[in-house]
Amino acid sequence: MAILLYILNICFAFTLASASISTNVDILYGADHIKVLDHGREMQLSLDQSSGSGIQSKNEYLFGKFDMKIKLNPKDSAGTVTSYYLSSQGSNHDELDFEFLGNLSGSPYIMQTNVFSNGGGNREVKFFLWFDPTEAFHTYTVLWNPHRIIFYVDSIPVSVFKNKEKVGVPYPNKQGMRMYSTIWNGSNWATRGGTVKIDWSKAPFIANYRSYWANACVFGKYCPPTSPWMGEGLNGNQKKLLKWVRKHYMIYDYCSDIKRFPRGFPRECLRN
Ligand SMILES: *[C@@H]1O[C@H](CO)[C@@H](O)[C@H](O)[C@H]1NC(C)=O
Ligand SMILES: *[C@@H]1O[C@H](CO)[C@@H](O)[C@H](O)[C@H]1NC(C)=O
Repeated sequence: MAILLYILNICFAFTLASASISTNVDILYGADHIKVLDHGREMQLSLDQSSGSGIQSKNEYLFGKFDMKIKLNPKDSAGTVTSYYLSSQGSNHDELDFEFLGNLSGSPYIMQTNVFSNGGGNREVKFFLWFDPTEAFHTYTVLWNPHRIIFYVDSIPVSVFKNKEKVGVPYPNKQGMRMYSTIWNGSNWATRGGTVKIDWSKAPFIANYRSYWANACVFGKYCPPTSPWMGEGLNGNQKKLLKWVRKHYMIYDYCSDIKRFPRGFPRECLRN
């Protein structure tokens, strides 16, 4: 009996999140602003003056690798924020973010990654992308294991947050997190520092999501330490790619914002 339970537990430890995004998520808000397309394989979130919209995964996870294909609103998207993130709930929450800050037609989106651990965040890293994220779907991935968090775009690493609990930096490894995707009004900060607001005459603003894939452990269930993503880090070639992205596309890193941290950088920014 014990063995059978053990085996069952292993089976349920993994989510079979797959081709059909719509069966793996619930509506978070704005139900009438969400469309299910392509037989459940795609979800379209929209934002207009009356509401934005959002979805959340049915499962709560502790560690995993989470892929989502996203296509952003084309043309004028200034003032909008489109997101894809993991988050726990409550006051000392953990959160791993991709946020896409819209822009006027012809001007580039900014992609921002952020990490909150035990309620503390403000670890923004910002990028321009090396492609037009409104033209086609691209894959945005959050890897989250006990050692590190890596954000990837089309399998290219863009930012890394290492577990530095040893030097007193809280690391997300206790609270279960759900996947969320939303589109909302960020007029007060998103575009050119909040100076460009949403032009509602351009609404609805639309973001399309598909191929949500959670290769992940469900919170509270047995999690096999042997899953390949459990020990995943960057190999030599990926380290080169990370450098390439940081050199050519990164426009802001909190870890080098001297004005913001005149009395020294946060501990996770220091080398070892
Ligand atoms: C959008 O956000 C801005 C800035 O916070 C706010 O002033 C405005 O009322 C919001 N508009 C709508 C329709 O929610
Ligand atoms: C929008 O375009 C302007 C001008 O090219 C640029 O400075 C800014 O970083 C872009 N992105 C956002 C989200 O403001």
